[in-house]
Amino acid sequence: MMKEIVETKFKEIFGTEGRFKTYFAPGRVNLIGEHTDYNGGHVFPCALTMGTYATVREREDKILNFYSMNFDDLGILTSSIDNLVYNENENWINYPKGVIWALKNEGYNIDHGFDIVYYGTIPNGAGLSSSASLEVLTGFILKDMFKLDMDNTKIALIGQMAENKYVGVNCGIMDQFVIANGKKDNAVFLDTATLEYKYAPINLENEKIVIINTNKKRGLGDSKYNVRRAECEKALEELQESGLQIKSLGDLTEKEFEEHKSAIKDEIRQKRAKHAVYENQRTLKAVQALENNDLELFGKLMVESHNSLRDDYEVTGIELDTAVEEALKQEGVIGARMTGAGFGGCAVSIVKTDKVENFIKNVEKGYREKIGYNPEFYVVEIGNGVRAI
Ligand code: GLA
Repeated sequence: MMKEIVETKFKEIFGTEGRFKTYFAPGRVNLIGEHTDYNGGHVFPCALTMGTYATVREREDKILNFYSMNFDDLGILTSSIDNLVYNENENWINYPKGVIWALKNEGYNIDHGFDIVYYGTIPNGAGLSSSASLEVLTGFILKDMFKLDMDNTKIALIGQMAENKYVGVNCGIMDQFVIANGKKDNAVFLDTATLEYKYAPINLENEKIVIINTNKKRGLGDSKYNVRRAECEKALEELQESGLQIKSLGDLTEKEFEEHKSAIKDEIRQKRAKHAVYENQRTLKAVQALENNDLELFGKLMVESHNSLRDDYEVTGIELDTAVEEALKQEGVIGARMTGAGFGGCAVSIVKTDKVENFIKNVEKGYREKIGYNPEFYVVEIGNGVRAI
């Protein structure tokens, strides 16, 4: 079991004395509602059973000793709760450091350090939220360690704050939220304008969720992510200046958008805003379709979502487009689309269980022929949110 593997490593690195505890936070896949979470729209993600594990022991001094089994060659990276400055060279520990920084920033009392070993089973840079998982895991551990008065939504907000203000990626709340609040066999239908949410059971009796990892790392994606966000903010401003009484693009229906879109003075920005509005409405329709047990319609909306992300939002690229195109050619596919920020990373598909084997074989072949290297596949289960294990 993973728990034993991480605890064994912990003892090897930091010794056997004292009390330690082990925790888990999942990764996530978003089924629909992409690039809507910073536009006051809805999202529909679920937590995965793959994720990040950590074993931790409190220290009496202010030292922070970080070790990741994913980066064994880096060894123990040491910091201190009194020195939480972002350091580009310090690599992955900026995420947990950012969470401690955000907690202190919010007035929580963090007065001693800890030794910690992390182990992640989510592929890095694949767009399945390995970094949000690390953030929420760390927030949850600190809540437990210092008996902090906060719920899981607050932990998610702390994680987002670390990402926005410390790491410098202006992400929305979706990833941290579902990692904190996810529930086995359910997707989380979240209104990002209010943070109200409800669980929606995903009863796939004869289908599986299959994730296709393009194996194209995101790289420059993060900076383009910030550009998209800025484009949407500018478009919103233009609509507001023209007299529209809205707080976010998520407030608009398709019809209202079409009536007012000429207020957005740039063609590209108009396309970006169009995606944000239509994708939000699509998410509402998709959740409704699922409630009506209309999986076919859900799949159709997934495909429309991908097309909009490709043509209007322009965050797909040849690898994601090829993965989805190949997926849609296969027998037994219900729907497929890119998931997460885009620019690389993963696509998500829903496939008839008895066709999954062929699906994987054929998509792999088609993808390799066009892109030149293999994708990877994960047939995933929907798991619970962050917890002690
Ligand atoms: C990334 C961000 C999320 C969200 C998605 C796109 O995963 O972290 O907040 O914006 O991209 O839907």
